[in-house]
Order: sequence, then structure tokens, then C-alpha cells
Amino acid sequence: MSDKLISTLRHAPVVPLVQSDDPKTALKISEALIAGGLNVLEVVLRTDAALDCLEAIAKEFPEAHVGAGTVLSAAQSQEVIRRGATFIVAPGLDPASVKVANDAGLPILPGVSTATELTTAWNMGLRTVKLFPAALSGGPKMIKALSSVFRDVEFMPTGGVSAANLPDYLAVPSVLACGGSWLTPAGAIEAGDFNAITTLAKEALSIAAQARA
Ligand code: 3PG
Repeated sequence: MSDKLISTLRHAPVVPLVQSDDPKTALKISEALIAGGLNVLEVVLRTDAALDCLEAIAKEFPEAHVGAGTVLSAAQSQEVIRRGATFIVAPGLDPASVKVANDAGLPILPGVSTATELTTAWNMGLRTVKLFPAALSGGPKMIKALSSVFRDVEFMPTGGVSAANLPDYLAVPSVLACGGSWLTPAGAIEAGDFNAITTLAKEALSIAAQARA
């Protein structure tokens, strides 16, 4: 992981997912999140327009850390780098994607959910991983159990994280940051209520500050 990204996440340990089928909407979502203090955004490849959304956000907000999520292959890894992603998140561990990211000098957080997958990631030199799906994989207790063995690994749990359980995750010292879609609810986006997203971002940061105090 790059030092700058890690230090940003230590101050604001929340990574919102940005999902849209329209770059203009994606820009509004990103603007709302950044206004709320969240500068690390994960644009997920789950719509036909996701790559265009990623490129638009990376161009418009060069001061933010704009990463690509739901990256499944080496080809997608190459494409998101070409579109301006500054980090890569994946639901699982794909060695070919890790190689592409490493060769480009980009941080990659592959998803793991077992000790065996984490062992494979660790032996590839990775020390920051996503735990996915975090809640179904055992949540904070699973991270504590893994951390007792993998003492130099930091986690970004994603999948089932919410404002309600954010403090439980952030209370685990090896949690670098939590990711999730609760900050960008589809209902608010459809209603054009981007202020609601800024409010959720601020709320998450205040929960994080209390959890880490
Ligand atoms: C991910 O892509 O990391 C997860 O699907 C996000 O899960 P969530 O919607 O429960 O936050």
C-alpha cells in the first residue's frame, strides 16, 4: 500500500462504494462523499458505465484516492489502471491481477475469507487485504482470530458493514478501514438527495473518531 493512501485511511478509515450507470451521477455522488470528508473512493465495476464513471471521477477529483472495486481479472486490472484508478480492490484473490497491480506500482486489496486464502496472499507479499464478505465470514471476531496468527496484516472488511457495526470493526487494531455501500444508498441517489450522502459520510467519520479515540 502507498504511504499516502495508508495515512489517509488512518485519518478517515471508511471507503465508500460508488456505483452508478451514469458518469454525471457518479460525479455528484463523489462530490457529496468528498464534501463529507471521505477522500478514498471505490468505484465498483458493476454497471456498463462503471469504467466511464471511474475515469470521470479520477479526472475531476485528482486530489482524492479513486480506486476500482469488483475487479475480477488481469485484463480488468489493466483497464482500470488505464482509466486512472490509483488502487484496486477485488472480491477474491487473483494472482494475475496482483501481478498487474504490482508491476504498475499500484496498491491492490484482494478479498480473502479464510486462513488459507490469507496464507496465499501473505506469501505473495500482500500485507493489506479486504475481508469479504466481512459479516458472513465472521465479522470482527474473525479478524481478531486471523490477526492472532497473521500479525503483520491489516484488513479492510467489506460486505455487511454499516453505521451500526462500524465501531465493532474499527475497535479491532488490525482493521485499517471499512468499506461499504451503506454510505451511498440507491434510494438517495435515485431521489437526487446527495446531501444525504454527505450527511452519511460525516456520520461515519464521527463514528470512526469515537471508535478510535
Ligand atoms: C463489496 O463490493 O465490497 C460489497 O459488495 C459491499 O457490501 P455492502 O453492500 O454490504 O457494503
